[in-house]
Amino acid sequence: MTALAFDVYGTLIDTQGVVSLLESYLDEDSAQQFLNRWRDKQLEYSFRRGLMQQYQDFSVCTKDALQFTNNEHNAPLSDEQQESLLEAYKSLPAFDDVKTALNKLNAAGVECFAFSNGSTSAVTELLENAELSNYFKGIVSCEDVKSFKPNPDVYQHFLSKSGSREQNTWLISSNSFDIIGAHAAGWKTAWVKRSKEAQFDPWGVNPTITVGSLTQLIENIK
Ligand code: 2OP
Repeated sequence: MTALAFDVYGTLIDTQGVVSLLESYLDEDSAQQFLNRWRDKQLEYSFRRGLMQQYQDFSVCTKDALQFTNNEHNAPLSDEQQESLLEAYKSLPAFDDVKTALNKLNAAGVECFAFSNGSTSAVTELLENAELSNYFKGIVSCEDVKSFKPNPDVYQHFLSKSGSREQNTWLISSNSFDIIGAHAAGWKTAWVKRSKEAQFDPWGVNPTITVGSLTQLIENIK
């Protein structure tokens, strides 16, 4: 049985979803630059905490990264505005292709899981808010192993929770660090190139397939 592990932030859920709120606080150019820096710092904190074995919930990485980015920009955001952004982060929108793609995959009997750095409760809330919960057989969170992607332990944990084997498990992600991590764990991988500017890390590792939309998965996974 083929199992698909869907990365959440940036793959199913559009982290750009807080742009409009941020643009009400900052001008348009600053808002995009601020958001990109916030996302990069959030991931950096997860990598560092994983390496240091100093686990904290992914929401702590998100909150600390927001505070760092705000300080770096000479603190344009008040505490209340930062709290509003963190609240918005709990109910981000799904990308437009997600429901159509998941409908096709479910109809074909493909087992779909959400697989994320986010805690089970945070991902549950995100999927409920985005009306995606019913498309997934389960949620596998890295919090269970107190580490983050791309620690090999988290990919092994997914296999034990889903009951799938590496050779019939696909990682679906827009994040190349995640694709390379799953490849190292022996999985098949589908890189979701969400924009023409998106770059894949020049590590000499290639995804099994690259898709521009999740709707291309059904005819390409085998
Ligand atoms: C995830 O959802 C952070 O996108 C990454 O696990």
